[in-house]
Amino acid sequence: MSLNSFGHLFRVTTWGESHGPALGATVDGCPPGVPVEPAMLQHWLDKRKPGKTKFETQRREADEVRILSGVFEGQTTGTPIQLMIENTDQRSKDYGNIAETFRPGHADITYWQKYGIRDYRGGGRSSARETAARVAAGGIAREALKVLAPNLRIVGGLVQMGPHVATGRDWDEVENNPFWTPDAAAAAHYAEYLDEIRKAHSSVGAVIEVVAQGVPAGIGAPVYGKLDTELAAAMMSINAVKGVEIGEGMAAACLTGEANADEIDMGPDGPIYSSNHAGGILGGISTGQDVVVRFAVKPTSSILTPRRSITKSGESIEVVTKGRHDPCVGIRAVPVGEAMMACVLLDQILLHRGQIGGNRGAIGGLL
Ligand SMILES: Cc1cc2nc3c(=O)[nH]c(=O)nc-3n(C[C@H](O)[C@H](O)[C@H](O)COP(=O)(O)O)c2cc1C
Repeated sequence: MSLNSFGHLFRVTTWGESHGPALGATVDGCPPGVPVEPAMLQHWLDKRKPGKTKFETQRREADEVRILSGVFEGQTTGTPIQLMIENTDQRSKDYGNIAETFRPGHADITYWQKYGIRDYRGGGRSSARETAARVAAGGIAREALKVLAPNLRIVGGLVQMGPHVATGRDWDEVENNPFWTPDAAAAAHYAEYLDEIRKAHSSVGAVIEVVAQGVPAGIGAPVYGKLDTELAAAMMSINAVKGVEIGEGMAAACLTGEANADEIDMGPDGPIYSSNHAGGILGGISTGQDVVVRFAVKPTSSILTPRRSITKSGESIEVVTKGRHDPCVGIRAVPVGEAMMACVLLDQILLHRGQIGGNRGAIGGLL
């Protein structure tokens, strides 16, 4: 089944396994004439790449992206763009013992039950190495967005680690700490907390927030193609993601209608909303406010603390997952979430252009 692709007009197919020779993405439907150089994609891959700090897996991958097709003399041609990233630091022997064993919290057991064959090395296709390909594709989407929606800016950060919630939202701060957290005080605390978790041979979950600023009003579609639906599906497809919310999300259940209403006034340049509980989306269509998505990732399943499981022949065993692992996968999930936001928004802007063209409904004489 061909379920390795996402997007409608900007369509991304990823391929490859964790310990195979390479992995990558085929990006089809990118408009022609978009300036693209490998360095533009590399910037985002470097943000996701493992081993940058002690808080990440020590697998040392250069994650160097090669553009094999679809870009000529520094511009996209409108033909399929093939992106390839070589795997250079596989240590499959670390994973030899999982050939017969199902690691708790991993997809070993379900891939085996479904396919009856699996590349177990480093989790094979189910490994989050796959997300490197998404980040490369997201780099293409970002460049196309610069052309089609020049005011659009995507920011993201880790806003909760375990029970510790970051309240600040200084998006310039994310570059200043190893957690991509938009709150300097929270980041200082996370360093200490995650060190304790790591030394205890444990791991912890996280919440990541991704915000798109400058999204024009009118992007998205009603009913089955809601912008919320597309974003939720995209974020939920990231490894380890177990929850997604838009705007107020689950907390909306605690609010009254008055508290939740984003009241509207007429401003000099168009409508002004008093708040953004809706996360920038009404009826599946963008309002022109920030589009706000949060997703929760579960704690890293590979831990050094023994956990109970079974082998392929059904015997009980204890699993201690050696190898190199992130104590909190939420950190490296930040650039992945940003990439998915870029891909979905570009796809939706292309769909909007296809159906609506330049037609708009005026408010107070303003378009
Ligand atoms: C960027 C990123 C890095 C990850 N690294 C690890 C890791 O080092 N060890 C681990 O056990 N899980 C890691 N995961 C999560 C697993 O890939 C994931 O839990 C597993 O494939 C099972 O899939 P599921 O959790 O989506 O059901 C990572 C996830 C992301 C997004």
